[in-house]
Amino acid sequence: MTAYRPLIAGNWKMHGVEASLGEVRAMVAAVEGRPPASRVAICPPATLIDRLAAQVKGTLIEVGGQDCRAEAQGAYTGDIAAEMLADAGATLVILGHSERRAGYGEGDALIAAKAVAALRAGLEPIVCVGESLAEREAGQTLSVITGQTRGSLPEDLAGHAFAVAYEPVWAIGTGLTPTLEQIAEAHAAIRATLVEGFGEHGRRIPILYGGSVKPSNAAEILRTAEVGGALVGGASLKASDFTAIFEAL
Ligand code: 13P
Repeated sequence: MTAYRPLIAGNWKMHGVEASLGEVRAMVAAVEGRPPASRVAICPPATLIDRLAAQVKGTLIEVGGQDCRAEAQGAYTGDIAAEMLADAGATLVILGHSERRAGYGEGDALIAAKAVAALRAGLEPIVCVGESLAEREAGQTLSVITGQTRGSLPEDLAGHAFAVAYEPVWAIGTGLTPTLEQIAEAHAAIRATLVEGFGEHGRRIPILYGGSVKPSNAAEILRTAEVGGALVGGASLKASDFTAIFEAL
């Protein structure tokens, strides 16, 4: 049984306006010049999804959202449904990012409901898990991430394409990264949980690493056992950095 292709996804967070599309032009030129060994996706703010999707149409670059609401429609001021992301041209969606878990109190059950919504809309979810520094220091890393993996991935995902992203909260935007041994240990625990939940299918789900991935550390991280790609924040905003990361594979 072959594994899914690795996935390198850029999470632009709350960065990006019309002028940022120039960077995307350079990213498109890079993938056209040298087709990457991985899938490449950009997850811009929702306001840019349709423009970015139009720009990358027909190229190898995919487009994703950064969050969605579980409901398909309704009186939820400011929220965006999975169907709206798909309608705008997204094919993936990041769910359960730690900035949403911590900043908006999103728990595993809500994230699982959002994953069901993503499937309903035909989107491929990228579900994030990761421990805080306090949890790591308390020796709780593996129990936290396996608990989040179990709780945030609904049974409905069986047989569907999805990804898990391991993002230690303390490594996000800090320039700090776990050792390669720590990454391998976390990814092995997530893999075991995926196999427990999804059987053989669970062996093939890509497990992305995220947290201060940059051109200088991408190659060694991407070659670490059970690392099936990367979820890249700051370094995905600039074409020169992002292309260096997906060309590292
Ligand atoms: P940085 O790459 O900026 O550390 O962000 C990682 C992240 O949160 C991606 O979702």
